[in-house]
Amino acid sequence: MQEFFEFTLGSRVLYKAGLARELGQVVEERGRQRAFVVADRGVVSAGLLAPVLSGLERNVAVVGVFDDVPANSSLGTVLAGAAAAREAQADILVAVGGGSPIDTAKGMRIVLTLGGSIPEYEGYNVISEPLVPMIAVPTTAGTGSEVTSIAVIKDEEAGRKISIVSRYVAPDIAALDPELTLTLPPRLTAATGMDALSHAIETYVSTENNPFSDSLALTAIDMIATHLRDAVQEGSNLEARGQMLMAACMAGIACSNSLFGVIHAISHAIGGRYPVHHGTLNSIVMPYGMQFNSVVAPERYVRIARMMGVNAGGRSDEEVIADGINAVRTLAADCGLPLRLRDVEVPEEALPELAALALVEAAIFNNPRSATEGELLELLRAAW
Ligand SMILES: [Fe+2]
Repeated sequence: MQEFFEFTLGSRVLYKAGLARELGQVVEERGRQRAFVVADRGVVSAGLLAPVLSGLERNVAVVGVFDDVPANSSLGTVLAGAAAAREAQADILVAVGGGSPIDTAKGMRIVLTLGGSIPEYEGYNVISEPLVPMIAVPTTAGTGSEVTSIAVIKDEEAGRKISIVSRYVAPDIAALDPELTLTLPPRLTAATGMDALSHAIETYVSTENNPFSDSLALTAIDMIATHLRDAVQEGSNLEARGQMLMAACMAGIACSNSLFGVIHAISHAIGGRYPVHHGTLNSIVMPYGMQFNSVVAPERYVRIARMMGVNAGGRSDEEVIADGINAVRTLAADCGLPLRLRDVEVPEEALPELAALALVEAAIFNNPRSATEGELLELLRAAW
C-alpha cells in the first residue's frame, strides 16, 4: 500500500508549433517587460535565437542576451550571467537551449534573487522562496530541464558538480515549440531522446515511484518508442518532433518527482571522467541496468515492455521482459547509437574505478535494487 508520496507541479507548460514567435505575449501576460535571454553558441549558430528574439520584441524589451555558456554550466558562467542581467535591470529570464543554458539561467535567478554564491544553496530545499521569473525554451527533446526542480552547476575550481534542488528552481513556464527542434542533427536527436527514455524507465521503477509519476513515465515510454526513429531519420517531421518534445517534458516532470537509479549513477560516474554525451551513455547502460533491476520489479518491467511495443499475450514474464530490454537496444541501434562502452572509448582498465564512483552517486540511492561495488563492476563489464 502506498503510504506517502509527494508530487509537485512546478511549471506551467505551453505547447505550440511556432510558440517562440509569440513569447513576448507570454512575458507580457506575466506582467514583465524586460526580458534577458540566456543561450549558447550552438543555439545562435543553429539560428534558433532569432525567432525567440523577434517573438519577444513584438511585445516587450529584450534588455540583454548572454550566450557565453559552455556545454556544462559553471559557477563562473552563472555569476557573469547574473551580473549582466542585474546591470540590464532584467525582470524575467528566458533560457533557450539544451540543459546547459537552462541550468545556467536557474543558477542566475538564484543569485539575482538571493545574492551570495551558488554553493550556499547546495542541497535539498535550501531555497524556500520564489525567484526572479524564468521561462525555459528547450531546443532538444531530452533533459526535461525545462520542468525539473534541479540545477546542476559545475564548480571548476573544486572539480565537482553542485546540485541545487528546490521546487522554486523549476522554471515558471516551459515553452515547448517543436519547430525549434527541427534542425537538431540525427545523432543528438537520438542521444537526447534516449536520455528521455532513460528518465521515464528509471523513474518508473525507482523507490520513489507513485501513480502520478507512473502515468507520465509510461506514456512517455510509449511516445518515445513510437516516434524517436522518425525524429532521427526524418528530422523535419514536425509530428515526431512534437511528440518527442512532449515525451521528454513528461519524463522530466516524472523524474523531477520520482528520481533516478543505477543507469544515471553509472552514466554520471563515466561522464565525470570521459567526454561522452550523457544521453549516449544512458542509452548504452540502459539495457544492462534494466536487466539488473528486473528481478526485483518484474511486473513493472512487463509494463515497460508493453509500452515499448512488445506483445505480452500468453508468454512468461521473463520472455516479455527480455523482449522489452531488447526493444530498447534495438531502438538505440536503429537510431545509430553505439551499444557498448568500448565503442565510446571508455578504457576497460577504468571500470573498477567507475564502479566505485557509481556506488556513491546520488542517483543510486533510489534504485529499486541495492547494488554492491562488485555488482556494479559486473554491470559495467557487461556494458563494455
Ligand atoms: Fe539524464
